Amino acid sequence: MLCRQRPTWSVYQAKAEPSIEAGAAAHLPITLLDVDPYGEPWPTIEAFFTSDRPRPQRIGIAVNDGLRQKLRLQGGWSVHSMRRAVEKFGNAGLFDKYLDVARWKIEQLAALRDYRVTHWTGYYCGFQNDMTHYACVLERSASSMQRKGRKMQRTGDSVQRKRPNMQREAA
Ligand SMILES: C[S@@+](CC[C@H](N)C(=O)[O-])C[C@H]1O[C@@H](n2cnc3c(N)ncnc32)[C@H](O)[C@@H]1O
Repeated sequence: MLCRQRPTWSVYQAKAEPSIEAGAAAHLPITLLDVDPYGEPWPTIEAFFTSDRPRPQRIGIAVNDGLRQKLRLQGGWSVHSMRRAVEKFGNAGLFDKYLDVARWKIEQLAALRDYRVTHWTGYYCGFQNDMTHYACVLERSASSMQRKGRKMQRTGDSVQRKRPNMQREAA
């Protein structure tokens, strides 16, 4: 339906993490990542940064994150994506300082692709403050973009060539 209404859009109906890892939407230079899962966003955001795709100089990320409820009820040590964060923030700190945890996680993932966080905002909300909303802007330096451009020239790197079989599916 969305595809028919908006022919310039690419619409996928699929499990997010493996699709993004496999290069879904890699034909687009994505400038805004809007993540709205029921639970945690980390596998999706991680797939975005580890996957092979064009990297614009500036990317915005907006997240509706439901992980805090699980951190309150179960403790962070049981959550795979919090494994390294629990060493840094402690088990209680994951809940109490979740906005700091989220920023730290984004900074770690962004650094994989030479981005740094230039703007950040966030707050807790919802029942018992179990939801966390945050948004940020990530930017790459011009020298990093030039290095990447030279590397792509040398290797003839092409996302399209590497990921020929992604299928677009109408919702
Ligand atoms: C909170 S709703 C988001 C709704 C939408 N953003 C909106 O405002 O109307 C979460 C949606 O993400 C989907 N979802 C949850 N985990 C997913 C995953 N791993 N891959 C793809 N979709 C997922 C759910 O089926 C649900 O439709």
